[in-house]
Amino acid sequence: MPTLEVEFLGYRVKSPIFVASGPASHDVKQIPIAQEMGAGGVVLKTVVPDKFDYMRYWPRPRYKLIDWDKKMNGKSQYFTLYSYEQAYSGSVDDYFNFVKISKSISDIMIIGSAFADEPSDWIYLAKGIEEAGADAIELDISSPHKPGTLQFETHFVQAIKSVVENVKIPVLVKLAPGPDVLTQAKICSELGADAVTLCNRLRGLEIDIETGKPILHGYYAGVGGPWAKYYVFKHVSEVYKEVNITISATGGVLNWVDALKYIMLGAKTVQILSVIIVNGWGSIRRINEGLLSFMLERQIENLEEVRGIASRNLIEPDLIVRWTGEKKSGPRNTFEEW
Ligand SMILES: Cc1cc2nc3c(=O)[nH]c(=O)nc-3n(C[C@H](O)[C@H](O)[C@H](O)COP(=O)(O)O)c2cc1C
Repeated sequence: MPTLEVEFLGYRVKSPIFVASGPASHDVKQIPIAQEMGAGGVVLKTVVPDKFDYMRYWPRPRYKLIDWDKKMNGKSQYFTLYSYEQAYSGSVDDYFNFVKISKSISDIMIIGSAFADEPSDWIYLAKGIEEAGADAIELDISSPHKPGTLQFETHFVQAIKSVVENVKIPVLVKLAPGPDVLTQAKICSELGADAVTLCNRLRGLEIDIETGKPILHGYYAGVGGPWAKYYVFKHVSEVYKEVNITISATGGVLNWVDALKYIMLGAKTVQILSVIIVNGWGSIRRINEGLLSFMLERQIENLEEVRGIASRNLIEPDLIVRWTGEKKSGPRNTFEEW
């Protein structure tokens, strides 16, 4: 019988499908639901130190589904989730309690998530998360709503180093979708991080032509949707081939096929969120079932058998077979003539 169990950062988890950090991992009540649906683990909503207290207060409404085809009922590849939701809304102590309770009421992997700027704050949050019993910690240095730019700022090097040196649990670093994800992943590996999470959402902007104003809260927002997977596929593949580091993929998963593609490109686990928001918690079960029936049909016992296969099948650019037939001279009017 095929199994979805995978080894991830020293843990044996029941499924490679994880709930990504966000509104589906903000409350202890959500943890048993994730477990019941068959998630391998949950990355809890990101906590911030008190100096970023304002990030704990979200504008309302904070989400908008755009490019949404109601007739397709979530099956369309073309929706965009536009949102502005920053940090975990409680205090740091509430968060440590949240981690503790989440661990005590479930047997799935619980990953704490944090954002800070000063190394001392990073260490405080990371140690607290570890002491509260989290299985791992994800450093969210790439939120589309974080203060400042989305560059891999130099202080993050110190932050990653400080956390790695101060906790024993595995450290994942969540990277932005660019620029230069590969270099960032190499730095994370050199600094001793155990995994990279690829990739956070893009920072985007939507406006209303009637009012001439940005929609919702009036500022930039996070954007993502099923279309987002294609550039993350590329980042996962590149990092898998070039860097010796575990990859947790996230971005644009709508169904089991997308999740399988991430695994075939080299990811160990796949974090999902938007599909849970639009199609419900049952998405986790549907993805697990889809993966299992694919494995049954192909007689695949373990996902390790296919992990990375597509990245290994990528060819070098100088081996691309190009058409070398005779070219017609003069203007070309149709695609066939090209
Ligand atoms: C409403 C919302 C809130 C999010 N909050 C966080 C967060 O607090 N920390 C974090 O690391 N990522 C956060 N994310 C990013 C998700 O964890 C995930 O990586 C991203 O949405 C891509 O996956 P998806 O396309 O399956 O949604 C958030 C995403 C959304 C849509």
